[in-house]
Amino acid sequence: MTGYVFKTASTVMSFDFNSKKVLITGAGRGIGRALAIALNETGCKVYALSRTKSTLDSLVAEHPKVVPIVADLSNWDDTRRKLEDLEPLDGLVNNAAILGEKYPSVDFPRDSIDKLLNTNLLGAINCAQVVGKKMIDSKIKGSIVNISSVAGIGAFDTNLAYNVAKAGLDMVTKQFALELGPYQIRVNSVNPTLVMTPMITNIKEGVLYEKAFIARTPMGRIAKVEEMVGPILYLLSDFSSMVSGQMHPVDGGMLSNIAVKI
Ligand SMILES: NC(=O)c1ccc[n+]([C@@H]2O[C@H](COP(=O)([O-])OP(=O)(O)OC[C@H]3O[C@@H](n4cnc5c(N)ncnc54)[C@H](OP(=O)(O)O)[C@@H]3O)[C@@H](O)[C@H]2O)c1
Repeated sequence: MTGYVFKTASTVMSFDFNSKKVLITGAGRGIGRALAIALNETGCKVYALSRTKSTLDSLVAEHPKVVPIVADLSNWDDTRRKLEDLEPLDGLVNNAAILGEKYPSVDFPRDSIDKLLNTNLLGAINCAQVVGKKMIDSKIKGSIVNISSVAGIGAFDTNLAYNVAKAGLDMVTKQFALELGPYQIRVNSVNPTLVMTPMITNIKEGVLYEKAFIARTPMGRIAKVEEMVGPILYLLSDFSSMVSGQMHPVDGGMLSNIAVKI
């Protein structure tokens, strides 16, 4: 597939990822996997990082050009060692996350908070540091996209650790955008609404969540996985060349609405 190119007298903007190199974390399944496949099909060299080897094996079996990296992001030093070996990249998508256990905030166990923050927040900071530093050193005008959540913007019942991690990730976006901007490196968040990936289908409340989100969403539905891929591709591409430090809710209008339909 050749990319779309937009030309004016002074500008050439390309949706073409041919010859680009992008690392996606959490690429074994769900949104990360769909993104890895989409980018691979544009000719992009995709580094797909995930924790479970078998899901990466099946991704590579289907798409042999994808380069797998098995790493557990909650292990800071091991992940760093694996990323330090990589060539400089044009893009990073910090997508991996766990939903974690749910407790009332007053009872949330310390070790559950630690586990959540280690993976969802520190894991993303670790990747952004290594990849961002290489972008700076190689003078690459790269793009970093952090997959946050609507739960980083509004609270979600019994989800303290996840929500705090996502709100923190949105600040990581702003902080890195501020400090990497002078190098023409852009950093943005995508904040998805509910998507029926294994993160949601594997929990018993999944169907109830679906009903609750649909009831609050002006568009009357939740998002499909591919509806997250498009906005991420836009933020990785030249078409967003002046967009940085921003959150991008992809929620069918849900956050603009304070009530369910009466
Ligand atoms: N689905 C939704 O409704 C929704 C809504 C808002 C935001 N999001 C965000 O969107 C992103 C993608 O979510 P998803 O729904 O596609 O999730 P998913 O289906 O659960 O996939 C998550 C991926 O991240 C990997 N991962 C988890 N912990 C890891 C770790 N410690 N080290 C390395 N990889 C790890 C998983 O690997 P394993 O197979 O080993 O677990 C899996 O490949 C997440 O940041 C999530 O918070 C999702």
